[in-house]
Amino acid sequence: MQEETDGPQQIYDADTAQRYDTPGTGMFAPEVLAPTVERLAGLAGDGAALEFAIGTGRVAVPLAARGVPVTGIELSPPMVARLRAKADEATIPVVMGDMATTVAPGAYTLVYLVYNTISNLLTQAEQVECFRNAARHLGPGGRFVIELWVPELRKLPPGQAATVWHSEPGYLGLDTYDVLRQRVVSHHFHFDETGQARLDRSPHRYIWPAELDLMAQLAGFELEARHADWSGAEFTDESRSHVSVYRLPQQA
Ligand SMILES: C[S@@+](CC[C@H](N)C(=O)[O-])C[C@H]1O[C@@H](n2cnc3c(N)ncnc32)[C@H](O)[C@@H]1O
Repeated sequence: MQEETDGPQQIYDADTAQRYDTPGTGMFAPEVLAPTVERLAGLAGDGAALEFAIGTGRVAVPLAARGVPVTGIELSPPMVARLRAKADEATIPVVMGDMATTVAPGAYTLVYLVYNTISNLLTQAEQVECFRNAARHLGPGGRFVIELWVPELRKLPPGQAATVWHSEPGYLGLDTYDVLRQRVVSHHFHFDETGQARLDRSPHRYIWPAELDLMAQLAGFELEARHADWSGAEFTDESRSHVSVYRLPQQA
């Protein structure tokens, strides 16, 4: 099953950008952001970081405040407008464009792409290009960090094309699968107090960790580390997502 949905520029429009930041809670909670920023700062070392799909600067703003120079690449002008309310162009420069192909000036020790966003590229070819673009920005020993969920196909019984992955008062999240094309559409239903629902949908191409490693290899990276979260929890067969660190060889 596959519904037609908008692309990233329609999904990350002014309305979504306006609602994106939830200071102090959800993906903006200190317990989420503090370990993320600590890990990325450690991996950047004394160098600069480049965030693919920087969005409103959820991670880039605290990482820059932590002393790491951060540049971004981003497709959505409204998301960058929200970032600009928090950091100016001199503090966090952003190049507008597609993270699979756009080149940002500068030298970087770290490129990172978090919050499942590599899956917004809907073909394997674009996802491989994204790895190649990360490598293009790095010198020998440079790192590319990806945060991505593990596809939940074990929850999809034969003959069924949808799973409910989150249910709480006021919110229902369900995914519809096209397993032939390795695609999933996430449907987010938000209910107001009158019972009216707002539906946000986003299409993704899901990637198994092993396929991700092969994409990395095609771009010249080696897997340096994989954990279940930003604090370094062990990645197991029950882990729902992973933080994977890829590294270019020290010798060019
Ligand atoms: C889930 S948000 C993540 C934003 C930010 N990295 C964060 O962690 O909060 C996804 C972002 O990816 C951007 N995006 C999607 N596809 C993109 C592409 N091909 N190139 C650049 N940005 C893209 C969207 O505009 C949106 O800002």
